[in-house]
Amino acid sequence: MRKSFVSVVTLFVFALSVCVGFAGPAFAAARIGISMPTQSLQRWNQDGANMKAQFEAAGYEVDLQFGGDNEVPVQVAQIENMISGGCKVLVISAIDGSSLTTVLEDAKAQGIPVIAYDRLIMNTDAVSYYATFDNFKVGTLQGEFIRNQLNLDSDAGPFNIELFTGDPGDNNINFFFGGAMHILQPYIDSGKLVVPSGQVTRDQAATPGWSTERAQSRMENLITANGYGPNGTVLHAVYSSNDSVANGITNALVGAGYTADNFPILTGQDCDVTSMKNILAGTQSMSIFKDTRTLAAQVVKMVDAILKGEEPEVNDTETYDNGTGIIPSFLCDPVFCTVDNYRELLIDSGYYTEDQLR
Ligand code: BGC
Repeated sequence: MRKSFVSVVTLFVFALSVCVGFAGPAFAAARIGISMPTQSLQRWNQDGANMKAQFEAAGYEVDLQFGGDNEVPVQVAQIENMISGGCKVLVISAIDGSSLTTVLEDAKAQGIPVIAYDRLIMNTDAVSYYATFDNFKVGTLQGEFIRNQLNLDSDAGPFNIELFTGDPGDNNINFFFGGAMHILQPYIDSGKLVVPSGQVTRDQAATPGWSTERAQSRMENLITANGYGPNGTVLHAVYSSNDSVANGITNALVGAGYTADNFPILTGQDCDVTSMKNILAGTQSMSIFKDTRTLAAQVVKMVDAILKGEEPEVNDTETYDNGTGIIPSFLCDPVFCTVDNYRELLIDSGYYTEDQLR
C-alpha cells in the first residue's frame, strides 16, 4: 500500500516536473535580447520600458540595452554580448539599418531569430520578422495634414514650405518622406506649393541622428537665407518627419520671432512630451501617435509564437524588402494627434497624465 502510494506520488511529481519542464520555467525563462538605438529620445526609453515590462510579465528574462547615444559600435558590441550570453531571440531597433550585417551573421549561425523593431535592418537574411507602425501611412497623414490646413485643393496660393526628414541611415525616412511627398509633390509640381530653398530631395532634407540641434541650425540658416519671419517672407508650413526634428524647428522659429498667432504649420511624430507642450502652446501643429504599448505587445506575441515553433501573426508581406527579400511584417496603425484630440488619445488611454503635459 505504502509502496504504491509512494510510486503514485513519484509519478505525480515526475509528471509535474515534465509539465513544468516543457511549459513552465524552462520555456518561460528564455532570455530575450532587446537592443534600442538611444536613451536620449523619450520614444526609445518608452519602447524599451514597455517591452521589458511586457516580456517579464509573460515570464521571460530580458537583456535590455541602449546603443549609447546612437553609437553604432556600441550597439554592435551589445548585440554580440546578447548572442554570446544565450539570448534566444533578438529584438533590434537599428541605429543604422545597414551596419548590422556582420554581427547578425553570428545570430543566424547560432539559430537565433531576429525581429527588426520599428526600423528595418537592411542587407541581411538574418532578419525573420519586422514589427513596426505603418511608416508610409505616417508620412501620408503628415502630408494630408499640411494639404488640409493650407486648403491646397481650394485656395490659390502659392504657399511656401520647407522640408525636414530624419537620419539618412534610418530606412523609415524613405517611407515617412515618401508618404508625405506622395501627397505634397503634385502641388509642388503645379507651383501651388513652393520650396524657396530648393532643398527638396530626401538627402537635402535629411537630419543626421534625428538631432534637434542640427534641425535647429538648418532652420536658422533657412530663415536667414530666405528672409523668413513674421515681418519677412511668409513661411506657411514646415514638414518635419518627427518630434525631435520639429523641436529644433520650433526653437529656430521662436528665435526668429514667430508666436502661436503666426506660427507656420509644423508636423511631427511620436507625441513626445516636449512636442505635446508645443502643440498645446501653438508652436507645433500636430504629431503622430504611435502607441508603443501596442507595438511592444505585438512583439511579445511574435516571440511567443516563434519559441513555440508557431508562425507569428503578420499583416504585410509585400512592402518591406531589406535587400535580401521581403520581410514578413506586422504593421500597427498610426493616428494623427492635435490639440483637438490629444485628450482622448493620450490622456484617456493612460499614455500620459494631463500634468505631464503642462
Ligand atoms: C522612428 C520614429 C522616431 C525616429 C527618431 C524612427 O525610426 O520610427 O518614431 O521619431 O526614428 O528616433
